Amino acid sequence: MTLWGGRFSTKLNDQAWDLNSSLPVDQRMAIQDVDGSLAWASALHKANILSDEEYTSISLGLDTVKGEFASGKFLFVPSDEDIHTAVERRLTELIGVTAGKLHTGRSRNDQVATDFRLWMLQAIPHLLSAFSLLQATLLEQAELAGETLMPGYTHLQRAQPILLSHWWLSHYHPLQRDRERLTDLIKRVSILPLGSGALAGTPIPVDRAALAESLGFAVASPNSLDSVSDRDFAAEFLFCATMTGIHLSKLSEQIVLYTSAEFGFFELSDAFSTGSSLMPQKKNPDVFELTRGKAGTLIGLLTGLLATLKGLPSAYDKDLQEDKAPVFAAIDTLLAVLPVIAGALRTITTKPERMRNAIDSFMMATDLADYLVSKGIPFRETHVIAGKAVRVAGEKNIQLEELSLEAYQALSLAFEADVYQVFDPLKSIEKRNAIGGTSLQSVKNQIQQIKGD
Ligand code: ARG
Repeated sequence: MTLWGGRFSTKLNDQAWDLNSSLPVDQRMAIQDVDGSLAWASALHKANILSDEEYTSISLGLDTVKGEFASGKFLFVPSDEDIHTAVERRLTELIGVTAGKLHTGRSRNDQVATDFRLWMLQAIPHLLSAFSLLQATLLEQAELAGETLMPGYTHLQRAQPILLSHWWLSHYHPLQRDRERLTDLIKRVSILPLGSGALAGTPIPVDRAALAESLGFAVASPNSLDSVSDRDFAAEFLFCATMTGIHLSKLSEQIVLYTSAEFGFFELSDAFSTGSSLMPQKKNPDVFELTRGKAGTLIGLLTGLLATLKGLPSAYDKDLQEDKAPVFAAIDTLLAVLPVIAGALRTITTKPERMRNAIDSFMMATDLADYLVSKGIPFRETHVIAGKAVRVAGEKNIQLEELSLEAYQALSLAFEADVYQVFDPLKSIEKRNAIGGTSLQSVKNQIQQIKGD
């Protein structure tokens, strides 16, 4: 039984049926569909469309249907075109023809948009907890890192020394922005479409503000035409998920690099590494590579939905049925990835001596220029002098700290014996003490601020 058979003389072609059916995707919104129906039944009752008896029968029936979903006992039948049809079909089996009154003044257009938003309102908090777990891990590692130094890179070339804790926290903050974006999105998801009808509004005198409140929505949508086709929240959610994917891919890329023998800054625990079927020695960072790869898939989900939405005429178009699969896939992806990355990072081994050994005196060339600045020479000149020192040391194939004082003084008479202090990477780090810098105190402040948030 379809919900729309009256005006048709033949049944839908089997393959067209399969194309049209959305049950494989939208059955995930079963509980939300029943909850939406319970609220609508109550609104119909308040509007005197349902008698006391009919309302009791419908709501008890819907409670049974909900129980069947919750316990996994609900049986779908081949004629269930979508989750809305399945719920109404089962309600009819349970309570008879009174079930047919439930859809009064409602359309699947406002119904599906309501279900989807309800589903998202419940899914976002799950995602936020998964974020919290990973952020807690990053913070924990930042605290454990203490005074461990590592090379910082720009263009993937050795740049300046940094604290390992600063590096860990540099991956905390993007996730915090992602959390804020997701939290902010909630207010744009929390808008109730139910009561918009198919497109023009409902003829039932429902108090939509009360209906919104009863379902946990902040407000009722202000325009029925917009409301049945507004999928901004889904696109916005996919952007949030994609941005997280990109942040995780950036972190993953660095773990892949830093666990390679060439860097050797970290070693993954066996529980989060995989081997090769051919090469017995291999220990591969698959979970980080997959995370990096899934960022690509997430970008595809976002651009796919945006392309679907582009140019659609007002109100509901069946194209919109394509909205749920990418959102579900994005949530599933993040919920699969976030705890694994958290686990892999919690159990990773740091190799401080490898990190320290990768800091050479050339990474303090900026400090060398700053040293001359402290002697009153303009930075533009000191940059050139320090650059010359780099060239001379490079030609001699020695470190900057191995250049003799005479060699330095040949470049500038402002150099004195204390110049060699600039090659201590910890001193370089300690100078970067302004808010957001890599000094011990500055990083300590960052941690305190995070903990206070
Ligand atoms: N399965 C549909 C969807 O997900 C439900 C809405 C159907 N509306 C309609 N007018 N055919 O979008």
